[in-house]
Amino acid sequence: MISGNPYMPIPAKLADVIDETPTIKTFILEPDEPMAFRAGQFIQLTLPGVGEAPFTPSSSPSDPGRLAITVLRTGAVTERFHECTVGQTLGLRGPFGKGYPIEELDGKEVLVVGGGVGLAPLRALILALLGDMKGVKRMSIKYGARCMEELLYRIQYDDWPTHKKVDFACTIDKPENGWDGHTGVVTTLLKDLDVDKANTHAFVCGPGVMLKFTTFTLLDEGFTPDQIFLSMNRRMSCGMGKCGRCNIGPFYLCKDGPDINYAKIKDYPNVF
Ligand SMILES: Cc1cc2nc3c(=O)[nH]c(=O)nc-3n(C[C@H](O)[C@H](O)[C@H](O)COP(=O)(O)OP(=O)(O)OC[C@H]3O[C@@H](n4cnc5c(N)ncnc54)[C@H](O)[C@@H]3O)c2cc1C
Ligand code: FES
Repeated sequence: MISGNPYMPIPAKLADVIDETPTIKTFILEPDEPMAFRAGQFIQLTLPGVGEAPFTPSSSPSDPGRLAITVLRTGAVTERFHECTVGQTLGLRGPFGKGYPIEELDGKEVLVVGGGVGLAPLRALILALLGDMKGVKRMSIKYGARCMEELLYRIQYDDWPTHKKVDFACTIDKPENGWDGHTGVVTTLLKDLDVDKANTHAFVCGPGVMLKFTTFTLLDEGFTPDQIFLSMNRRMSCGMGKCGRCNIGPFYLCKDGPDINYAKIKDYPNVF
């Protein structure tokens, strides 16, 4: 819930920095006031004097006093975030967007498909469901990274499938010395899926090209557009439906998304 001036960031102390991969770090932030959020909602992270950028917390919504933000170094602002050190003060504003429709998952199976740093927003969903599977029948997690050293949250892969209703599979794009797991892009994990397809919701997050081919693969596998939810993490500015930077047709991804049902957007141009 946003209170006060939505353009004014809340100061947040950088309590820890985790080196996840050569290009990805997770920042643990303790805001001056707890920032309640739903899994899938995003925040704007500010580095005073440098700029701000949108990120979806990768931690469980059950701890609004300590948020994890996982950041891929890709350009000017994220480069400067990666130089931040413990004890520094950053800013958070939000949360924005709708968040994942967790209340619609009762009685369903959940398929989580992540590519690269796209596992970060999905981890909030995974942790929220692990904390309370409610009526969710099963969660199947499929993840792909470019190479072994870019596998995100590797330390957690053994833990997730210890939950009896959860299975996990990951892949890297090409064979590498020291890797005896699956190789091929993440869509290769989606063939002949062992899920109750008619009763499964799929949540997909990753680079644009991965969203596109994952969507087409799921459709080929028999999913219908309304069973597919895409994280449309495009360029955003205000986060509140005011600047017009993020729309697809009539939908503002910052307000109506960023996770949006494919059935709603599939007929508009430039979805992918
Ligand atoms: C709702 C939302 C949630 C996001 N969550 C995360 C997250 O959890 N972790 C994370 O690492 N990133 C996330 N992103 C992407 C992140 O906001 C951008 O990577 C960041 O703004 C880039 O800023 P920059 O100044 O470093 O890069 P720029 O200098 O602006 O751009 C550098 C390169 O990154 C590309 N780029 C910039 N913005 C995006 C974007 N939104 N999507 C894809 N490519 C982009 C540019 O095209 C360019 O190639 C999210 C984006 C949105 C909109
Ligand atoms: S980011 Fe401004 S309208 Fe969506």
